[in-house]
Amino acid sequence: KRLVVLVSGSGTNLQALLDAIATVGSEAYGAEIVAVGADRDGIEGLARAERAGLPTFVCKVRDHGSREEWDAALAEATAAHEPDLVVSAGFMKIVGKEFLARFGGRFVNTHPALLPSFPGAHGVRDALAYGARVTGCTVHFVDDGVDTGPIIAQGVVEIRDEDDESALHERIKEVERRLLVEVVGRLARNGYRIEGRKVVIQ
Ligand code: GRF
Repeated sequence: KRLVVLVSGSGTNLQALLDAIATVGSEAYGAEIVAVGADRDGIEGLARAERAGLPTFVCKVRDHGSREEWDAALAEATAAHEPDLVVSAGFMKIVGKEFLARFGGRFVNTHPALLPSFPGAHGVRDALAYGARVTGCTVHFVDDGVDTGPIIAQGVVEIRDEDDESALHERIKEVERRLLVEVVGRLARNGYRIEGRKVVIQ
């Protein structure tokens, strides 16, 4: 299976996928990353892709006349690599109708909180501020909401009294990277069905 990964930052989730595939081989893993896209340049996530010799593309909202045009351009740039599965790994933009029309049902996101709790761009900070005792990460299919699509898998992380946002996020990311590698591999190898809110992996 062909994967396109979308990033906006450090790309450690991307790196976890790259390392897993390099370790077991794309045949055994069931997928290979064919390109990495971003909404901004100059980020470590793109540098990781380039070091891995992968094609990259950047679609910046401000280069387009409207959000819709950006969304269509992102869909085009992604489609050019003919992905079977698109993975948002820290991609910090909400995609629109065009992107979902083309990749809905095969577009996976990872979120650093236990959805439906703490959706949005500050899930780690919000869980901490709320005084939650556990949080975690969620890998889900993307639908037309914000972090509302069918959940595939979740991992739990305890919140410690001494935690600040970055310490907690780092601890979440340790679980998140393993969860994403495991889920993407299973989706690619086994195939899956989405039945309402449920995801059935064969
Ligand atoms: C991840 O925790 C992701 O869930 C969140 O931002 C982080 C991205 O980390 N949206 P990285 O860029 O993969 O290191």
